[in-house]
Amino acid sequence: MKIGVVLGTRPEIIKMAPVIDEIQERGHELLLIHTGQHYDKEMSENFFIDLELPKPNYNIHVGSGSHGKQTGLMMEGIEKVLIEEKPDIVLVQGDTNAVLAGALVAQKLHIPVGHVEAGLRSYDVSMPEEINRKAADDCSYFYFVPTEQSAINLVLEGYSPKDIYITGNSVVDTCYRNLKIAEKTSTILDDLNLNDKDNIITLTMHRAENVDDKERVTSIIQALLELKDFNIVFPIHPRTKKTLEKFGLYEKLEEAEHIKVTKPIGYLDFLVLISKSIIILTDSGGLQEEAITLNVPALTLRYNTERPETVTAGGNILVGADKETILVTADKILNNKEFYNKMKNAKNPYGDGSAASQMLDVIEKAYDEDDLKIESPHRIMTTFDVEMRHIDENITVEEFEDIHNTLVRVVYKNDSMVFPSPDLNIKDSIILFNQYGLDEMLY
Ligand code: UD1
Ligand code: UDP
Repeated sequence: MKIGVVLGTRPEIIKMAPVIDEIQERGHELLLIHTGQHYDKEMSENFFIDLELPKPNYNIHVGSGSHGKQTGLMMEGIEKVLIEEKPDIVLVQGDTNAVLAGALVAQKLHIPVGHVEAGLRSYDVSMPEEINRKAADDCSYFYFVPTEQSAINLVLEGYSPKDIYITGNSVVDTCYRNLKIAEKTSTILDDLNLNDKDNIITLTMHRAENVDDKERVTSIIQALLELKDFNIVFPIHPRTKKTLEKFGLYEKLEEAEHIKVTKPIGYLDFLVLISKSIIILTDSGGLQEEAITLNVPALTLRYNTERPETVTAGGNILVGADKETILVTADKILNNKEFYNKMKNAKNPYGDGSAASQMLDVIEKAYDEDDLKIESPHRIMTTFDVEMRHIDENITVEEFEDIHNTLVRVVYKNDSMVFPSPDLNIKDSIILFNQYGLDEMLY
């Protein structure tokens, strides 16, 4: 089987690494397409080195630019490659412009798309990422979602539960596969002249709504300047460096003795740095997930999150860009041991590190069953109704579907929505299911 992987930015490289490993270990042909959205050595090539990834087969070199320009160039470039290479499936990850370009182009060429980290929603369309992830979900064939909550987001939008696979997040695979190696080889703490008793805060920030907004970014920087009980390490994203310089804030950070501003750090060093931190302060998506995976409390510099599971689990607090909220919360974490331990021990909702392997199992099964295809229906659809029913009998989703030749779309059990997994017992639940036969619905 030939599997296309489209990626273009730092987090995609990191989260696709275990998927790429799995593709290669299972002997499939890998077609690796880099959009070139991130191009600095510290934002791209260094991750290929650290994670021992093969060189991309193609680099589209889109570089920086407006969303329309970047996405347009990506689409043109990816389309050429896919027409030439004809992969059996294309995998995209997350919510960057690559996910949108890759999914849209592949689906129009009738190549099935697997969306890795599908179903996340911040419900904030002012974020370019929210637009990308929703549009990509519309163009996908398989939804590899990290949690039941992201699966339910998709079910509520009408996606078929049959296409949704709850795998956990592949960032956990990457963390687990690399932390031990990193601990043996990294000298990052010595390099920074720090040790793990130094109340280290790792800070990252690059979200457009923070760093391009003078008022918000100034408020965050003012908080950082006052957090003198901590040693803050700030590997700065190129976007952030540019705007901080523009707003005259960069110098202030450099002058502060408790703040070390560095270039973006390689993955292995960064893993060690965050795992030795007392708090992670971030607006990054990946960092919210890694924080709870590595048992480090996170304060998220945002007003919403598409990773609400981290907040519900108790490992992440949304502090927005408000100086006082940041200061009060950081102080509470440092000075209230019970509160700190509660955050630290929050249960990781992102799985056991086997996400990539589960995804490849699904893809291989579909390939073996000749199910990796998008084609025009052969039968006329007869009815479109959805029925609601209270279930009194002891029966699983799969049994109900077999008996009624239908598809269970939604299950309410104990006043909550539950994902309709085949083995879920739906006694005493209310379900929504398609009235017509499953065959008619599909073709
Ligand atoms: C992009 C993603 C964002 C993701 C982030 C990961 C979109 C819409 N945004 O944001 O979802 O969280 O990557 O880091 O896809 N730049 C460089 N060197 C580089 C790359 C960028 O200097 O290698 C500078 C350029 O000035 C560029 C700016 O950073 O204009 C922003 O880069 P861009 O790729 O547009 O968005 P990110 O903020 O990186
Ligand atoms: N990261 C890294 N070095 C850094 C900063 C971040 O290796 O200096 C990693 C981090 O561990 C995480 C990913 O980059 O896996 C997050 O990328 P980013 O914050 O750029 O994007 P987001 O996750 O917000 O899309």
